[in-house]
Amino acid sequence: MRHLLDTQTLSRETALRILDVAEDMADTQSREIKKLPTLRGRTVVNLFFEDSTRTRISFEAAAKRLSADVINFAAKGSSVSKGESLQDTAQTLEAMGADAVVIRHSASGAPRTLASSGWISAGVINAGDGTHEHPTQALLDAFTIRKRHWGEDSRGRDLEGLSVTIVGDVLHSRVARSNVWLLTTLGAQVTLVTPPTLVPQNVNRWPVDVQYNLDDAIDNKPDAIMMLRIQLERMQAAFFPSEREYTRQWGLDSTRLARLPADSIVMHPGPMNRGLEISAEAADSAQSTVREQVANGISVRMAVMYLLLAGDRDQAVKGVDR
Ligand code: CP
Repeated sequence: MRHLLDTQTLSRETALRILDVAEDMADTQSREIKKLPTLRGRTVVNLFFEDSTRTRISFEAAAKRLSADVINFAAKGSSVSKGESLQDTAQTLEAMGADAVVIRHSASGAPRTLASSGWISAGVINAGDGTHEHPTQALLDAFTIRKRHWGEDSRGRDLEGLSVTIVGDVLHSRVARSNVWLLTTLGAQVTLVTPPTLVPQNVNRWPVDVQYNLDDAIDNKPDAIMMLRIQLERMQAAFFPSEREYTRQWGLDSTRLARLPADSIVMHPGPMNRGLEISAEAADSAQSTVREQVANGISVRMAVMYLLLAGDRDQAVKGVDR
């Protein structure tokens, strides 16, 4: 694997390989000493042009647990504010010895531009680009669903026969796009539940069912329900009458939570708008995997960086000393 830019073009085989290596990595994270020597001498640059808590910190933790050197770059406070281009910024960081660049950018396609332009030779990992994709979020979501469903027997398994309902602001969500492609590649049935105003134009070309009524979707007893953040910062117009009305129709409250099967899991990529798309009762319930998703993100990002920078799975297994 040279870069990780999206899940739309990720094969089932590569996706399963990442998830299986992530299982190996997760095993090491319950040890007293969590650090592996695997990427000693390699340098990972976190290039964040947009705000982030989970993704930035978890890439940093993942790289450090593999013994890589980490350079954190935030556009705020850098020479980007003086007009420096993506090309010049990336080439400056490569001159400092970057072997991999993790990039989050508000422009859809920025990671692909970086990977294909020839500006740098480092591997590129997309940490979220505009409304396009957020592949490592989808991988950690798939990892979480698989682990919850198969437990210790999850290695090598896909998501065939499982149903996942993704609810909310699909129009602005790179998390939804990456999950649609990855979860369906892995065999899951995906249903989108969204206000009619927040349906992407080309959704008829996506391998999903689209519904508008959350109560009907809950009646179908999904194995996982994934609540999306309402991205108020990306909305230039009114997409629903009021926040109260949105919550009434598309929010996961305690009444809807009680109607879900007891073994359905409740997911959210974070950051959550508590009280808007998800109630505190749902977010903090026993069915919620919100914190598990964050923890799994470290293992998945360790796996991605390992496969990008250090080669094949046999070595990974040796490296983590199973
Ligand atoms: N899920 C996610 O991408 O969160 P951050 O924006 O905090 O990284």
